[in-house]
This record gives sequence, C-alpha cells and structure tokens, in this order.
Amino acid sequence: MREKGEAGVIGLAVMGQNLCLNMNDHGYKVIAFNRTWSTVENFLKGPAKGTAIVGADSLTSLVNKLKRPRKILLMVRAGEVVDTFVNNLSLLLDEGDIIIDGGNSNYEDTVRRVDMLEKKGILFVGAGISGGEEGARRGPSIMPGGNPKAWPEVKELLQDISARAEDGEPCCDWVGPGGAGHFVKMVHNGIEYGDMQLISEAWQFMRDGLKLTNDEMADIFRKWNETELDSYLIEITADILNYREKESGEHLIDNILDAAGQKGTGKWTGMDALDKGIPLTLITEAVFARCISALKEERVDAARIFEKKIEPVTGDSDQIKAWVEMLREALLASKIISYAQGFMLMREASETYNWNLNYTQLAKVWRAGCIIRSAFLSDIAEAFTSEPDIPFLGSAPWFRKQLLGNMDSWRKIVVKSVEIGLPMPAMTSAITFLDGYTCASLPANMIQAQRDFFGAHTFERVDKPRGEFFHTDWSGHGGKTSSTTYEA
Ligand code: 6PG
Repeated sequence: MREKGEAGVIGLAVMGQNLCLNMNDHGYKVIAFNRTWSTVENFLKGPAKGTAIVGADSLTSLVNKLKRPRKILLMVRAGEVVDTFVNNLSLLLDEGDIIIDGGNSNYEDTVRRVDMLEKKGILFVGAGISGGEEGARRGPSIMPGGNPKAWPEVKELLQDISARAEDGEPCCDWVGPGGAGHFVKMVHNGIEYGDMQLISEAWQFMRDGLKLTNDEMADIFRKWNETELDSYLIEITADILNYREKESGEHLIDNILDAAGQKGTGKWTGMDALDKGIPLTLITEAVFARCISALKEERVDAARIFEKKIEPVTGDSDQIKAWVEMLREALLASKIISYAQGFMLMREASETYNWNLNYTQLAKVWRAGCIIRSAFLSDIAEAFTSEPDIPFLGSAPWFRKQLLGNMDSWRKIVVKSVEIGLPMPAMTSAITFLDGYTCASLPANMIQAQRDFFGAHTFERVDKPRGEFFHTDWSGHGGKTSSTTYEA
C-alpha cells in the first residue's frame, strides 16, 4: 500500500461498515478492522468492493497502516468491549493519536477514558452518532465531545461524513469536554423514547378510541407531517401503517407483538435525571411504558381478570375528525414538554460538569441525520438564540403560544383517555408536569410539615428568607432537636 490510511474503523457491524463506506465516498482512505477476519473479508468482497477501503488483520497492522496523528473510530458494543480496545490500542498508539468511540457509551465511562488516555498523551473522543444504518451510510448527526485537543484534528472528517441541514450546515459540532458528547447522545435517545411513546399513544387513541383503520391513520400521520409535527418519526409511522406483508397482504403492524425492547439509553436518561433532581417525567414514563409492555403475559391475564374494555368514542365523522385534530394538538404540546425537560437535564449537567453546552448548537446538530430530526428543532435553535439561558423552553414565545393554544385539546384528550380506560402515560405526564411547573403554590408544605412532624426534618417558612430552617414540636411530646439536614 503506497499511501497510508486517513482513518481506521474498528467494528464492522452494519453501522461500522456504513461509516467506512461514507468516509470512502468523501475521499478518505479507510483501514477497516474487525475481531473476526472473515467479517473483514466479506466486507471487502461485498459492500466495499471497488472502493479504496483496505482491511487490517490485527490491531498492530491497523495502527501501522494509518497516517499520524492516527484517527481510529471504534464502532463496537458499549461497555467492556470498548475498554478492551482502548487498552489494547493505548499500547500501540503514539502521543497525539486519537480514538473516537462512536457507540452508545455511558458518558461516565467516557469521562474516565478521556482522563486515562490523556495521561498517555492519547486523545479520546466520545462521539454520539445517530441515524441508524441509513444515517451512517448517507450522513448521521454526530455529537463529539471529550479531549478538546482532538477537535481540530477530527473536525473535517466528522463534519464531512455528517448529515447537512437544509441551510447546508453540517450536523456535527463540538459538544464539550469529558463525557459531554455521549451525555447529549443519551438525552437524544431519551427524547427519542419520548417521541416514540407519544406517537404510539396517539396511534392507540385513534385505533382503539376512534376505531380508525391503519390506512386512515397512515393518511392522518402523513398530513400531520405537513404541520409543526413534521419529523422523521411521524413520517416512518405513516410508512409503517401502510406496510402490508407480501404473502398475506395483512398489515405487518398488527402482527407485531406489543412488547417493546430497550437497550438502556432511555433508562440511563431517567436515572441521570433522578440523580440530578430534574423532573424528566415524560421520558421516564416512556421507559416505564416499555417496561409495562414487556409484561405481555401478565397483561393478558390482568385484562381477563379485570374484564378490561376500552369504550370507543362515539360521534359522526366530523366529530371524529375534531378528535383527530385535538389529538394532533395534544401530541405537539406533549412533545414540547418532553424536549423542554430534556434541555432542563442538559442545562443541569452543563452546570454540574462545567461543559458550557451551547443549546442552539445542539438543536442545530439534531436538525438532520438523527432519529429525532424534525422541523421543530429549528424553532428550538431560534428560542435558545434569543434567550440562551432560558430555564424552561416552554416559556419561549413560540413554544408558550403552542402550549397555551393547544391546552384545551390536550386536556380533553387526556380526560377522554382516562374516561375510556386508554393508557396515555406520556401525554398525561406532560400536562401534569406543566400544571405543576406553572403552579405557584404546590402542596409540598404539607410534605414538609409531615416530615417535620414524624422525623424533625425541619421546614422553611414563607415569612422568612430561604435557607433558614425551623422545627416545631407538633405533638407536644417531641424533642427540640431537629434531624440533620441533607439533600439526596
Ligand atoms: C440513534 C438510535 C440508536 C439506537 C437506539 C435504540 O440515534 O441512531 O438512538 O442509537 O437505535 O439506541 O435504542 P433502544 O434499543 O433502547 O430502543
């Protein structure tokens, strides 16, 4: 081989293969490695045939075939496998070389790897890559973070292979130091869970509540895609509802078991929100909704025991149309809450870890290539441009207008769902969140009184400055000593 490679890719599952091909399309000489040589061979003989992609049969060979500073993209399973490759590579690489982890790694692992490799002079980047197979091949959204010294070296490569927004900007920008890139990808995935759950709830309302057919619902989703809801997930939902199995002509969706899988990034988002004390209710409900769905056999038994029936909504075709429009408005309002909560979590993380996240930039990076791409992300980018420190996205003018304008429909849908026994945990949690967040006087003083009554946990008073704590001997036989104050 005369010329050395410009990028190495480790892990030739579908994402890794497609990223190799994508880099090759952009004129980069790629060296590909996989633990099993036959996978490399099959790739070179198959999808990579006729390209400039070269295989490597060992890590040493991969490293030797790359130009310095070496840029190696890891596309392997998150967790121990990443550590194994990082450790093995660290013995072979030179100072200034770069490892990019493009998997769905936990951001805390990324923090650890950045620090560990920094000590050896190797630059580690944790890059969230979204867009699935198609995105990897044609241009994903990329969220790189980690050792900032790596960015000038990898910027061109990552931006070249990323998706482009309508205005031509690459959907890849530096997110921040440490685990910032993988954190943002984790929140992206959490939002993805929320969007998918909301769409599924709307679909169930139409299917079981309004008794619409798959073809009718496909048309509705297609029309919704021409509104503020314009997004990749709405678009594929319409396609899914239209899809019929070749042999039977039946809609495939009706033959898919209603038990959702999950690989963990949604759960991490919820867990992180609990750790940071951020009310990320919608995404967390979406994770639990997948958990309930997985209890298929128990649900089937319980449905029998409780003689469960969902009473359809009655009405003529105009009334049904009106319900569909209300549902669209409820979906939009709920989606706003989900994104607003996601941005609240990112804001808290940014402050906690000094990441200095740029929310306009993040919204822009998600405009194309990724699973949650949608028209609405441009409105988010605009909101954060006008007010970068806005604590709640829902308060930005465009979003506030949508929330207020759609409020009636949103309430009617949630009330109706409860009335007819149709579960809508995400939409319900969304309105409950807004009702709580906009309530200047919550019943938490009762909780404080109860805590102080039974455990001398103290309370603050409305007529005293914040931060002063009081204890009362409520029953007349308690002590005067209060318990230590600490926050979980
Ligand atoms: C993406 C996706 C991708 C993957 C999810 C699926 O951005 O391209 O989010 O990362 O499809 O991790 O997650 P679950 O299996 O947990 O639904």
